[in-house]
This record gives sequence, structure tokens and C-alpha cells, in this order.
Amino acid sequence: MFFADNDYHVRQLTKADLEQVCTIEKRVYKLPWTDKIHAQCVESGYPSLVLEQGGAIIGYAIFNYLYDECHLMNIVTEPHFQGLGVASQLISAMYEKAKESGMVKVILEVRASNEVAIGFYHKQGFAEIGLRKGYYKSEEGREDALVMERML
Ligand SMILES: CC(C)(COP(=O)(O)OP(=O)(O)OC[C@H]1O[C@@H](n2cnc3c(N)ncnc32)[C@H](O)[C@@H]1OP(=O)(O)O)[C@@H](O)C(=O)NCCC(=O)NCCS
Repeated sequence: MFFADNDYHVRQLTKADLEQVCTIEKRVYKLPWTDKIHAQCVESGYPSLVLEQGGAIIGYAIFNYLYDECHLMNIVTEPHFQGLGVASQLISAMYEKAKESGMVKVILEVRASNEVAIGFYHKQGFAEIGLRKGYYKSEEGREDALVMERML
């Protein structure tokens, strides 16, 4: 752990976190989720997590459960804190929470061009199980998604 001297914790993402989460979202992505989508995820009761350090959110993971699958929809580390283990902490906390809720696997989609995220997921033990053609909007039009899976 390189990003903190134990001065951090992972906890449930709540409505009060939306402003910080949406600010980071816009800093990180060229095509960010809208504030409305983030608000709907909270209103729908997704069990999403944030990693907080010294009162500031520096990462978040948005996910939901469907039958026995945990669907990871978004995981982000604030740019200044990337490469320091934040997303690794968050995703480990998600695995534990999902297992406690009876989930047996994690599924996700990732942009085919997002090499950093794909590398992160491979390191986490995810395998590529499919391709969704033109799944994402992109600046050039549409972009494919890799579908990845990891057993819990
Ligand atoms: C993908 C992302 C969440 C990783 O978060 P992070 O906190 O930087 O990740 P960690 O520090 O826990 O990194 C763990 C591993 O991921 C890989 N990784 C992370 N950043 C990397 C980079 N810039 N280049 C190459 N590999 C990288 C490495 O394998 C790393 O392990 P290592 O440090 O032992 O080499 C972060 O880059 C991010 O927020 N990206 C923008 C949002 C995004 O694309 N999210 C995924 C959407 S599907």
C-alpha cells in the first residue's frame, strides 16, 4: 500500500458522495457518465463503494448484483492517486462484499482501447470471455467492448 499511512477506508457510496464522484468522473473520462446516471445508481440501491482518504474520495467502484453475478460497471481512481493500489483495494473490497451476498463471479465490459484498465483486470485474474461490437459511444463513433469475467 503506497497511497496512505492507513489513513483510508472503503465504505458504501451514498448520495452525499455524488458531487465528489461526479467531479472525478469528469476529470477521468472523455465521455463521462452523466450526473443523472450516477444519481440513479445510488437511488437504485447499488452496493457501490468509495475509498476515502482524509475525508476526500480518491476512488470508487460502481457495481450491482444480478442472480449470482456481480456486474462491475465503473471503477475509477482519482488521477493523482493512480498506480498506487487504490483500485486494487476497492476491487478486493467489492469481491468480499459480493461473496457475502452470494455472488459467484464478477462480469464487466471494458473499452477495447482501454489498455490500462485491461491490464489492471488481467492482473486481477479476469479472463476475456467475449466481445460486444460497437457497445460504447466513442469520439469517432462506436467502439467495441471486451467482456471479462472472474470467479469469486
Ligand atoms: C484502471 C484504474 C481504475 C486502475 O486504478 P489504479 O488505482 O491506478 O490501479 P492500481 O494502482 O491498484 O494498479 C493495479 C495494477 O493495475 C495495472 N496498472 C494500473 N495503472 C497502470 C498504468 N498506468 N499502466 C499500466 N498498468 C497499470 C498494473 O498491473 C498495476 O499493478 P502494479 O502496480 O503492481 O504494476 C485507473 O487507471 C483509472 O481510474 N482509469 C480511468 C478509469 C477507467 O478506465 N476505469 C475502468 C473502466 S472499465
